[in-house]
Amino acid sequence: MDKILVTGGLGFIGSHTVVELQNEGYEVVIIDDLSNSSESVLDGIISITGKTPIFEKLDLKDKAGVEAFFKNHNDIKGVIHFAASKAVGESVKEPLLYYENNISTLVYILKELQKLPSAGFIFSSSCTVYGQADELPITENATVKQAESPYGNTKQIGEEIISDTCKVTPNLKAIALRYFNPVGSHETAKIGELPIGVPQNLVPFITQTAIGIRQELSIFGDDYPTPDGTCIRDYIHVVDLAKAHVVALNRLLQNKNKSNYETFNLGTGTGSSVLEVVQAFEKVSGEKLNYKIVGRREGDIISAYANTTKANEELGWKTELNLEDAMRSAWKWEQVVRKKG
Ligand code: WQD
Repeated sequence: MDKILVTGGLGFIGSHTVVELQNEGYEVVIIDDLSNSSESVLDGIISITGKTPIFEKLDLKDKAGVEAFFKNHNDIKGVIHFAASKAVGESVKEPLLYYENNISTLVYILKELQKLPSAGFIFSSSCTVYGQADELPITENATVKQAESPYGNTKQIGEEIISDTCKVTPNLKAIALRYFNPVGSHETAKIGELPIGVPQNLVPFITQTAIGIRQELSIFGDDYPTPDGTCIRDYIHVVDLAKAHVVALNRLLQNKNKSNYETFNLGTGTGSSVLEVVQAFEKVSGEKLNYKIVGRREGDIISAYANTTKANEELGWKTELNLEDAMRSAWKWEQVVRKKG
């Protein structure tokens, strides 16, 4: 079984991807610094797959630690790199924290991969690189715009670093996966999204409001030029997203990639407004959601949803779950997490 490193493997998307990698038969090694996750997520993974990944607590900013790790695991065939700070608002307040944590760690890992006989590298990127795209749905050729936040900039810079490195490293090939909005949880409700503090993202705020932790949801503006006035996003179920990482890794390890650096948009191809997300949640949960319309949130774009042609036709992947599946699983997860107390 090929050994795969998953950095940030105890995080929201990382843990769901570890499950799918194990289902595919890969041996998984997780590096996580536990700054935005907890070791108990390992129990959730094991209870789903019955397989125990190797886990090493390591801060990837520790260059010597990264070197020592790869000396220990020089049989790694691929890396899926999730580990990064990802709160847009925080990145505006603390840009250097984001440039150090998201960029230097990427450089340290790539330096180690250059030493291996061959390696496949999957990078967690984001539709945020497009900003407000001029054309919808958004294709991979859409202009990468001036980042709206240091967080978004670290994704753009990260893609450029990887592309430049692959050009001069014949044994390294990479794919950047540009996620739209990941939501939902594994159907077993044994793993899911665990935001620390007040959730910044819409869906965890909805489920925490429904369960009574939050008083009410504030909808940031209903005066946008959209059918119901609220912003539109492409909400992709995290399990579909996780499966796309396995498909992308297989593409590299089976040498099916068309070039040494490729990018794919990962979305459903369907845009949903904030109000439509609320309605989908109310429908599947039977809960009436308490919300109010407030002013717009700084930096929000009006509308973003993916053109999925390249992922469907070249990667050979498409989403199987819809918004209601995502809302149902997110609600089930919230209820389980709150029961655990
Ligand atoms: C979605 C919509 C809000 C909360 C961000 C990052 C992106 C990626 C996903 C990491 C927007 C509205 C939200 C609330 C609301 N993160 N909203 N009330 O901003 O599209 O994307 O998270 O990769 O990079 O930018 O996601 O869930 O924050 O917001 O009305 O309490 O919900 O205005 O229209 P976003 P989001």
